[in-house]
Amino acid sequence: MQYRGLNELREAYLAYFESKDHLRLPSFSLIPQNDASLLLINSGMAPMKPYFTGEQEPPRHRVTTCQKCIRTGDIDNVGKTARHGTYFEMLGNFSFGDYFKREAIHWSWEFLTDVVGLDADRLYPSIYEDDEEAFAIWHNEMGIPSERIFRFGKADNFWEHGSGPCGPCSEIYYDRGEKYGCGKPSCTVGCDCDRYMEVWNNVFSQFDNDGKGNYTELKQKNIDTGMGLERLAVVVQDVDSLFEVDTVRNIMKHVEEIAGVTYHSNHESDVSLRVITDHIRSTTMMICDGVIPSNEGRGYVLRRLLRRAARHGKLLGINRPFLVDICGTVIRESGDAYPELVRSRSTSGR
Ligand code: GLY
Repeated sequence: MQYRGLNELREAYLAYFESKDHLRLPSFSLIPQNDASLLLINSGMAPMKPYFTGEQEPPRHRVTTCQKCIRTGDIDNVGKTARHGTYFEMLGNFSFGDYFKREAIHWSWEFLTDVVGLDADRLYPSIYEDDEEAFAIWHNEMGIPSERIFRFGKADNFWEHGSGPCGPCSEIYYDRGEKYGCGKPSCTVGCDCDRYMEVWNNVFSQFDNDGKGNYTELKQKNIDTGMGLERLAVVVQDVDSLFEVDTVRNIMKHVEEIAGVTYHSNHESDVSLRVITDHIRSTTMMICDGVIPSNEGRGYVLRRLLRRAARHGKLLGINRPFLVDICGTVIRESGDAYPELVRSRSTSGR
């Protein structure tokens, strides 16, 4: 494979979409602007809702970003499993009333196979159950046999997060092989186990949800793509989880050094190492964007994450303030992609 490191994969993606006339924008702040429906930005499209609805004119009708995202809905599972995390980076290519399904599908396949070098025989598209237009593109234009194209209903293949632009989607799954599977005879694309991993999500964003479940057709048809950067890295690096991805692993190694423990030596310390590693990523990014610990709203989210990280430090036997040192590693690993981290070093880390 051509690109392996998380930082390389991010750059490869953004450069590929620049070559397709997209404007590369820096990540938006984690603090939503003029959007009372969100405490923190949780997807690549969230900061661009007014471009999707046509309310605001975008700087270009094709945009690509790598967006910092926080989702804390599963916070209690973070650490207990190697799957859950609160912070991730979302790669996205967006069309605001410009290209639609055809280009989005062609480019997603070309990026994964030609640019990243994933084996096409291990990739499986899915479509929204009755989206015959997407089916025809996958089948007739991309040459994917119909039995390799999976049809899923609203629970899986209709993307929406709170109110705003949403729509049916077409995903791409990667078969990571039997070693990651559950072994059940029924195991296939869509199974809950770790074998078939969804890497790419092409959302055909054409509706507006008013937040009460009423959908209206948007004035324009859009593309909203989401590909979790860490997930892509998990697949490319053929590692068990996001905690084994190169940059994330380097952060955990620093925690291991300070605590004098090694990952995979004991269940309890593994939980603590994962909690600290995940939470230090999210809190460094939040503080960098100006969130301050408090008793409410996003400040409370930050306070909770910091407290959990500190408590797990104690459980590992660390008896001094140490999170600030780990922040320095987060800044080192991600500072090239997010220069704001380097600029605000004195607020978030050493
Ligand atoms: N906005 C599309 C996604 O996050 O999958």
